[in-house]
Amino acid sequence: MRQDLRQRLLSANQVGILSHWAKLSPHEQSLVERQLELIDLEFLANLFDKRNSPFALPEAEKIAAVPVLHPSTNSPESKNEGLKALAKGEVAILMVAGGQGSRLGTLQPKGTWPITPITQKSLFELHSEKVLTLSKKANRDIPFLIMTSPATHDQTVTFFTSHSFFGLKKEQVIFFTQGTMPAVDLNTGAILFEEPAKVFASPDGHGGTLTALKKTGLLEQLKSQGIKHLFFFQVDNPLVQIADPVFIGHHISHRSQLSSKVILKDSPTDKLGNFIQVDGRCQIIEYSDLPLELANRKKHDGSLFIDTGNPAIHLFDVDFLNVVSSNGDALPFHLARKKVPHVDTNLSKVVPEKENAWKFERFIFDIFPLAERWLLVSTKRDEEFAPLKNAQGDDSPETAKQAQCKLFIQWLEKAGIKMPAYSATPEIEISPSFAMDAEELFRKLPGNFQAIFPLLLQDNPKEF
Ligand code: UD1
Repeated sequence: MRQDLRQRLLSANQVGILSHWAKLSPHEQSLVERQLELIDLEFLANLFDKRNSPFALPEAEKIAAVPVLHPSTNSPESKNEGLKALAKGEVAILMVAGGQGSRLGTLQPKGTWPITPITQKSLFELHSEKVLTLSKKANRDIPFLIMTSPATHDQTVTFFTSHSFFGLKKEQVIFFTQGTMPAVDLNTGAILFEEPAKVFASPDGHGGTLTALKKTGLLEQLKSQGIKHLFFFQVDNPLVQIADPVFIGHHISHRSQLSSKVILKDSPTDKLGNFIQVDGRCQIIEYSDLPLELANRKKHDGSLFIDTGNPAIHLFDVDFLNVVSSNGDALPFHLARKKVPHVDTNLSKVVPEKENAWKFERFIFDIFPLAERWLLVSTKRDEEFAPLKNAQGDDSPETAKQAQCKLFIQWLEKAGIKMPAYSATPEIEISPSFAMDAEELFRKLPGNFQAIFPLLLQDNPKEF
C-alpha cells in the first residue's frame, strides 16, 4: 500500500483495513486503494467522534412558530407572475430520485413504480407528463434535472431512454448523480466493506444535491442560461404540483431566496419535517429529531405549537444556491444507525441482526437557516401530498392511488360535474395533459358532461 495512504489510515484510526488489505489479490488491492483515496478519512473520523453528541436543538425559549402565507384560491396576480417566469425561461425543475426505496421493498428506482389509479403510469411518467404539459404552456422546453445516486442511476436512465423520455426532449432531461458516503462500524468507526474489494457506500442524502449541482457545473450552467429559480420536489409524491405558477409568483414577489410549501400536521408525531423559526431564520427539525415534549406542546387555543409540516416542495433562488454552495461544508451530516451487511477483516460475510453501523446523510432543508429572505406558502395535504414510502399501510401504493382519486373527485365537483352516487371511492384518473387543476377541468368539460366510473380523462394518449 502506498505509504501516504497507510499513514492517513493510521492517523484516522482505520487500522483494520491494513489486515483486510493484506488478504486481497494485487488487483483487488489496487481497487481498494483507489476507493480509499477518494475518502476524506480525517473528516470521517471527525464525524464518528461526534456520534454521541445528540442533534442540537435550539433553546426552547428561542423556538417560535413560523409565519405562513395562505394564498387566496386563485391568486391571479401571482399566477401571472409565475407563468411569465416560466415563459421567459427563468425556471428549471429538479427531482430527487437517489433514494433506494428500501422501505418500499423494491430493487428498482422508486420512480418506476406504477402509481396512477387506472392506466398505472409510473411516477417517472406522471412527473414527466406534468413537465411536458407545463413546457407546452410556457412554449419552451423547461429543463428537467433528475438527481440519481450510483444505486439508481443506470436503471433510471435506461427507464427514461426505453420510454422515449415520455415525450420530453432528450436534451431537456439532465441526469446527474449525487455522491456517496462510506458506512462505518457502530462501535469502532471502521470503514465497512460490502465485498472484499468494495467499500460499502450509500447515497449521501438529498442534501447531496447541493454538492452534486456544484461539482457537475450544473449550477453555473443554470445561471448562465438565465435560470433564476429552481423548483425542487421528491420523486415519491404523485400529487406534487410541479412548478406551480402561483407558488413561483409568490416567491418572486416576496424576493424570497428560498420558499417552501407547507401542510398542517395530522398529529404531533406526524412523519414530516417540522418548520420552526429561530431568531428570524427558518429551520426544519426532522420528525425523528423532534422531542416528544416539544411535539406535544400546545398554543393557547389548544392547537399544536409546531403544526407546520414539510411536504418537501421547495423553490430555490439560483444565486442563493451559488453563494451557499461555495462553502463546501455548508450542510452538516446527520448520523443514522442502520443494519449493514458486510465482510469482516477475515473476509467472511456478516449479516447483522441488529444495527451495526452508522450511515451519514445531508438533508437539503438544512439550507433553510442560511436564507435571510424566506417564505412558507400553505397547501393542503389532500391537494398536494400523498407520498409513496411503504409497501403497505400508511403512505403505500394503495393510499397514494386513493388520494389521487379523491383529489379528482374534488376537481370534478368544483367543475360542477354531476356525480353518480358511490359507496367506495370510485376509480378516477385525470391525466396532467388533460387538466392540471379544477379550473382547467371546468374549461375543458362540456356543461352536460356525465361522469361514469371508472372515469379516465386524457388527451391523445401515447404509449411510451
Ligand atoms: C423526507 C423528509 C421529511 C419530509 C418527507 C416528506 C428528509 C430527511 N426528510 O422524509 O422532512 O417531511 O420526506 O415526504 O428528507 N433521496 C435522494 N438521495 C438520498 C436520500 C433520499 O435522492 O440520498 C430522495 C429519495 O429518492 C426521496 C426523497 O429524497 O425522493 C425523500 O427521502 P426519504 O428517505 O423517503 O425521506 P423521508 O424520511 O420520508
